[in-house]
This record gives sequence, structure tokens and C-alpha cells, in this order.
Amino acid sequence: MAREQFGVCAEPNLHGSYLLFNVLDNRNAFIRTALSRLPELFDDYADQFSEANLTGVVAIGANYWDEFYPQARPALLKAFPSMDNDDRVAPSNNVDIYIEIRSDRSDVNHIVCSKVCQLLADSVELIEQVQAFRFLDGRDLTGFVDGTENPQGMQRRNVALVQESDDANFASGSYLHIQRYKHNLTLWSSLKNEEQEDVYGRTKVDNIEYESDKKPLTAHTKRTSLKDENGKSIEILRQSMPYGDVKEQGLFFVSYCHSPEPFEKMLKSMIYGDGHGHVDHLLKYTQAETGAAFFAPSLTFLTALGNISV
Ligand code: HEM
Repeated sequence: MAREQFGVCAEPNLHGSYLLFNVLDNRNAFIRTALSRLPELFDDYADQFSEANLTGVVAIGANYWDEFYPQARPALLKAFPSMDNDDRVAPSNNVDIYIEIRSDRSDVNHIVCSKVCQLLADSVELIEQVQAFRFLDGRDLTGFVDGTENPQGMQRRNVALVQESDDANFASGSYLHIQRYKHNLTLWSSLKNEEQEDVYGRTKVDNIEYESDKKPLTAHTKRTSLKDENGKSIEILRQSMPYGDVKEQGLFFVSYCHSPEPFEKMLKSMIYGDGHGHVDHLLKYTQAETGAAFFAPSLTFLTALGNISV
């Protein structure tokens, strides 16, 4: 079976750097070769700074895939599902390439980001770079621990990676969605502690889940904790991190999954609610400013790209 890119299922780090690029015209062949070399570049720096726990992910935008690799397309790859209901929005952006670099040292991230940009050089336009960081004991900037109900151990791979039986050509790849959320922390801070806890359906300091019958239908964990028709939990692997400075801040939301559907179902449940007016109250205090969908192919697929002429 193909190997996955190591960053997809990696454990949380202290620092994250997210690079979003668009590819210039007629540069596809160069880009294929350049991206195929990135895993080796990540490995070299991971060896050199072994205590930094460096990992990387390279992903290809849903709208760019056919130019990038016209021979075949991941079976379920589609554009980001933009949504809009009252003041809850999920906008969609065109991004060709996503590169995630995470480690426990911001200087190492900086070195690797610079090398990536040098390598891609004149063939891309850098649309955005987001510098993210671990906040306290893995909390979002709203003060609540983020990631507690993430799949653990082997279950991370089951949730995040495409299985051989589902799409043999793209096994061990992962469907990726990103959204950059901007928080309104002034409004959030005006809430009492208990009101904030009701928004999440969890307690703040000790991070305990509310009893099911005490959880408001508008709680974020109610709206995102979904089951399929057989009663099985629908899951994604979140690798989000806080970003920003004192002027502007929020969450860089990152979700990996074996299919794009779980993310879309959860986002729909947050924005459009349950059909009885119960929408996600977290969205009163934060707003998605960007959104994009990608496929992160397996390491095996990515490294073989350099040998392909299209
Ligand atoms: C600014 C945006 C967001 C913030 C600050 C945020 C924060 C949190 C926090 C603090 C938790 C509780 C602890 C945990 O289990 O991780 C949580 C749970 C969760 N979130 Fe979010 N989240 C955001 C957006 C999203 C989005 C866009 C999705 C998916 C479309 C999502 C999916 C989930 C899921 C699946 C859970 C676990 C629910 C459970 O099983 O209890 N989140 N989130």
C-alpha cells in the first residue's frame, strides 16, 4: 500500500506555517517536478533538526488538479462547498497549491518555507502565508481546548486516508479542506463563562463534555457531532491552529478525511442547522474569511511525479 505524507496524521506541533500558491501559466511540468522533490527536502530538514518534529504536506487544489495531472483524478475531488445563510458564510477561494509545514521550532519552519519558495520560484504566485501557533495547552483563542474529540492512534489513519478498496489509484491520499476564521474576541469576551461553555457544549477550564441532554442544539459540538444512517459517527481529522496578532486573530481550520463528504455535512449542519432553526452559535463570534478544497496525494504518488511527462 502507498505511504501517506507524514504531516497528514502527525500529532499537534508548536508552530505551523501554511503557504497558499497559484501556479503561473505553462508551468505545470516544472511544478510537478518541484513538488515531487518536497518530501526529500522535508526529510533533510527533519533529520538536521531532529528535535523539531518537522512534517510537511503538499496538496493540490480541486480546481487545479486536472491541469496538474490530467491522466486521472481522485474519485471524490470537488470544489469547496461555499455556503451562505443569514450572517453565516463559508466563502470559497481558488488556490492551486497548499503547503503545510509544522514543527516545534518557528525558525525551522521559516527555513523550510524559504526553501520551498526558492524552489517554486518564478512559477507561482504566493497568495497567502499564515503563521500559526499552539496556544496554551492546545486551546483555540476563544480559550477552549481544540482537538479533544479528534480520532486517536490508528483511527487517525482510518479517518484521514483514502483506502485501497475505495480508490486504488489514490490510496493513502487525503481530502483536505481549509478555512481561515477571524474571531471577534471583543464580542466573545463579553459573554459570561457559562454562556461561552453553552456555545461549545463543553466546560472551559477542565474541558469536560456536557451531558447529552444538557447540550444546547446550537452548541458547536452538537452541530458537528454527526452520525450516518447506521448510527456510526461521521469523523474528520482536524489539524487546525490559532493564528494572528493582537490586531487580528482566529483559527486556521484544517480538516483531513478519506472523503470530502463528512466536512461538507458538518459545515452544512453549522451554517444551515438542523431544519428547526438550530444553527451553530459559535459562528456569531467567528467568521470564515477564506475556504478551499484540495487533495493531498500519497507520498508514493508525489515522489513518483518527477518521472512523469504529460
Ligand atoms: C473558528 C472555527 C472553529 C473553532 C474555534 C472550533 C473549535 C472547536 C472546539 C473547541 C471543539 C471542542 C473540542 C474538540 O473536540 O476538539 C470543537 C469540536 C469539533 N469541531 Fe470545531 N471549531 C471550529 C470550526 C469547525 C468546523 C468548520 C468544523 C467542521 C466543518 C468543526 C468540526 C468539529 C468537530 C467534528 C468537533 C468534535 C465534535 C464532537 O464529537 O464532540 N469545527 N471545535
